[in-house]
Amino acid sequence: VIKADGLAAGKGVVVAMTITEAHDALNMMLGNGEGRVVIEEFMTGEEASFICLCDGTHALPFASSQDHKRIFDHDEGPNTGGMGAYSPAPVVTPEVHARVMREVINPTLKGMAAEGMPFSGFLYAGLMIAATGEHAGKPRVVEFNARMGDPETQPIMMRLKTDFLSLVEAALAGKLDVVEAEWDRRAALGVVMAAANYPDTPTKGDVITGIPKATDDSKVFHAGTIEKDGTPVTNGGRVLCVTTLGDTVKIAQRRAYETLASIQFTGMQFRHDIGYRAIGRKN
Ligand code: GLY
Repeated sequence: VIKADGLAAGKGVVVAMTITEAHDALNMMLGNGEGRVVIEEFMTGEEASFICLCDGTHALPFASSQDHKRIFDHDEGPNTGGMGAYSPAPVVTPEVHARVMREVINPTLKGMAAEGMPFSGFLYAGLMIAATGEHAGKPRVVEFNARMGDPETQPIMMRLKTDFLSLVEAALAGKLDVVEAEWDRRAALGVVMAAANYPDTPTKGDVITGIPKATDDSKVFHAGTIEKDGTPVTNGGRVLCVTTLGDTVKIAQRRAYETLASIQFTGMQFRHDIGYRAIGRKN
């Protein structure tokens, strides 16, 4: 896996499956003889997002989640920032959760503190979890982000029952070891509605109609929108995230698609299969 060193709007990573593809990627990234790349082993397995709130010493794990990066159904087409997500991620079993805390999160916090950079804030570990092979059941880190995730945050926040601000204040006070986050036992699932031509150069200014009112178990989160003359219009790649709760991922999925059925804007794109991995696993 070859990655341009630095931010590249999600387009800086090439998963080269042949030597030729690897050479092409290097030529593209280093074509003018400048720049740097990172080369890493290709990992197989299922990805999950593991987000913790940290206070420099302690980590409070938030509910696990999983997003869908490709633009089209069946994980086809170019990568995006994420076309939908759900929480919890069934691949993060209680055993995997314990290992992530023990082998990834706590050593990372300790290491950063030991290096004189104690980390306070949201730490997002993107994990790869293999079901078989030499790394079976062992969570491996794909990436760290110093933020929450989009669109993972939307289903996570639907499930958070504890007051969010009180958790942030506990983090600021270095007291995350004495607070707990309470989670809705239901699953939450969010479907991203993206603008025409996303992820390349999304069109802007398309009028959005039919956004339903929020209820106790459904909410439409705005991202790439702006209000013009009292009407919401598109103003970015990922426009809305329609997020619902349900007793199972399948029920949450059905509700999300029912909820988004009334929303319209020119060229809108969304996946029809968000949650399929979790649902397949249950089956
Ligand atoms: N959805 C992936 C991320 O926020 O990095």
